[in-house]
Amino acid sequence: MGVEIRVEGLTKRFGRQTIWQDVSLTLPAGEISVLLGPSGTGKSVFLKTLVGLLKPEAGHIWIGDRDLTRLPEADLYETRKLFGVLFQDGALFGSMSLFDNIAFPLREHTKKKEGVIKNIVMEKMELVGLLGAEAKLPGEISGGMRKRAGLARALVLDPEIILCDEPDSGLDPVRTAYLNQLIVDLNARIGATFLIVTHDINSARTVPDHIGLLFQRHLAMFGPREMLLSSDEPVVRQFLNARKHGPIGMSEEKDLSELEAEAKMGHDPGRLPPIPPQLMPSDGRARLAQAAPGAWLKANGIQAPPGSFIDDAGVNWTEEWPRYVAAQQQPVAAPPGGGPQ
Ligand SMILES: Nc1ncnc2c1ncn2[C@@H]1O[C@H](COP(=O)(O)OP(=O)(O)O)[C@@H](O)[C@H]1O
Ligand SMILES: [Mg+2]
Repeated sequence: MGVEIRVEGLTKRFGRQTIWQDVSLTLPAGEISVLLGPSGTGKSVFLKTLVGLLKPEAGHIWIGDRDLTRLPEADLYETRKLFGVLFQDGALFGSMSLFDNIAFPLREHTKKKEGVIKNIVMEKMELVGLLGAEAKLPGEISGGMRKRAGLARALVLDPEIILCDEPDSGLDPVRTAYLNQLIVDLNARIGATFLIVTHDINSARTVPDHIGLLFQRHLAMFGPREMLLSSDEPVVRQFLNARKHGPIGMSEEKDLSELEAEAKMGHDPGRLPPIPPQLMPSDGRARLAQAAPGAWLKANGIQAPPGSFIDDAGVNWTEEWPRYVAAQQQPVAAPPGGGPQ
């Protein structure tokens, strides 16, 4: 069930251009983390560095007692099997059917027989709602279906860690809502550690357990969802509330004169908007890192903004919580003597 990834002092440069430096964070095992940041801040580069496709100039990436940045190529190849990656563009082979695309990692990395491969592929296609589309070519299906096919392919090796680069870019709001639910359900079911890059503020506010924000070549903040959603830090506040006012300008960062002009206007950032409840698994399972709404705020003596933890249907999750937890699907107890694995 998922593994923890510990990133320490990671720095990535291309030539003389520093993309980000001294990034340290821990992706907790089995939890969902979201990585945010303005375009071009190196989010995709960060994911590629985590899987070892790009070499950092400094720092460590620990999985257990192995440092991915120091592994010989042969071990790195093995370690990559822990990862399932959905790249930004889906990265499907255009001339292969969806079935063959999804089967590709199994044929490449395992010696499984075709019958077994077929079962796995069909199971993953069902999971992402693509049954019936096996024979289609990537060019014949919608962007949303391509994303889901990419996700199915990322899942076939039963990864412990799933990295998704903008899985929701180019999707309409309804498809985004379905995809978010799929991610939360998957996480509850397979317990993998997730890191998702997104620009969708609603997804960023409701899906993760942890949120990180890259800005100005640094990790500006990384922490529990409720910490960032209640933060007064200008850049965090601006980004998580999609505001024009704040340190982020149209072209990356605002210059000093722009910021001074804004200060002169006496802009009042106002009250923080309500914190929405977390998206919950659709089958009544618990989230792996389940905590009562507002638990982090309470533990840190912070008042939730008024109206927090009420969902779109008007359900107040703070009141609903004890009932919800009591009704939760209980884990099936293992049969005496272990039972089949
Ligand atoms: N292979 C590469 N070689 C040189 N520069 C790169 C490479 N990949 C990305 N970059 C640069 O790194 C920066 C961050 O890119 P990227 O990670 O794609 O940003 P984001 O995903 O946050 O929008 C950009 O300036 C981009 O041009
Ligand atoms: Mg990107």
